[in-house]
Amino acid sequence: MQTFKQIQWYPGHMFKSFKEIKQKLKLVDLVCVLLDARLPDSSMNPEILKTVKDKPILLIFNKIDMADEKILNWWVKHYQTLGFETLKVNAQSGQYTNQIFDKAKYILRERIARDEAKGLKMRPIRTMILGIPNVGKSTLINQLSKTKSTKTGNTPGVTKSQQWVKLAENFELLDTPGVLWPKFEDAKVGYHLAITGAIKDKILPEDDVCQYAIKFLQTHYLSRLQKRYDESITREMEYVDILDLIGKKRGALIKGNEIDYDRVYQIILTDIRNKQLGGLSFDRNDV
Ligand code: G4P
Repeated sequence: MQTFKQIQWYPGHMFKSFKEIKQKLKLVDLVCVLLDARLPDSSMNPEILKTVKDKPILLIFNKIDMADEKILNWWVKHYQTLGFETLKVNAQSGQYTNQIFDKAKYILRERIARDEAKGLKMRPIRTMILGIPNVGKSTLINQLSKTKSTKTGNTPGVTKSQQWVKLAENFELLDTPGVLWPKFEDAKVGYHLAITGAIKDKILPEDDVCQYAIKFLQTHYLSRLQKRYDESITREMEYVDILDLIGKKRGALIKGNEIDYDRVYQIILTDIRNKQLGGLSFDRNDV
């Protein structure tokens, strides 16, 4: 495999994005940091927790439909132990997304109680969503906006005033999410991001990404690998033999019956991303 140093995350872009986030932070009461439920560690930008330190944070684990529940629950507990409020959601289907309102009110309960004691009307709760590319920020914003319009029934769409999307429960959401860059501390993180599509396929060599994915599945999800491709796959089987097997079974061949490896890579990665191997968790507590 090639060295990981080849990955470049544009420093100029990072700097700009962080500067914008810092400015927007001043406007909100609460920050929702979105993590990918399959990779809660690799999708966490450690800088953000330091930057946001003065604001309450809600950690939202998104794409729960794609994760391995047992491993995910371990991560949720882990972050709770560190003192974070957490929530698991599926932004695509809207499952549990409404719980964000209750969580936010719980997190801000002291402020709300103080206002009530002074006889003040409840102030809007303003929040913003942050996360690495592809983690589901826009999907969540759309989902929360939709909730409002279906809930009230008679309001066409959402009411937008400048950059704020007004939602149910006196909630206001900044309509542009903050884009964080992932941490590139080690190669493993890069592979996890590449396998799940958080970074573009061309950034890391597909062959390396696929090799990592197959080895990972052999170690952690052997029975699913067997069920999806072939019962004869074993934990010890060589990577290239697995590629050949899948290539032959799926007819990914070029002239002379040679295996079309590029197509095999695509088959494997697409299967993983389309949940054909079930819910997978790449950041593990058991390795
Ligand atoms: P971003 O703003 O953070 O960059 O992410 P975005 O909302 O664009 O979501 C990236 C992809 O993840 C989208 O798929 C979106 O549908 C999908 N997604 C978001 N939340 C969930 C979830 O909870 N579960 C699942 N399974 N998928 C989720 P896409 O293929 O890029 O687009 P589309 O085909 O859905 O339009």
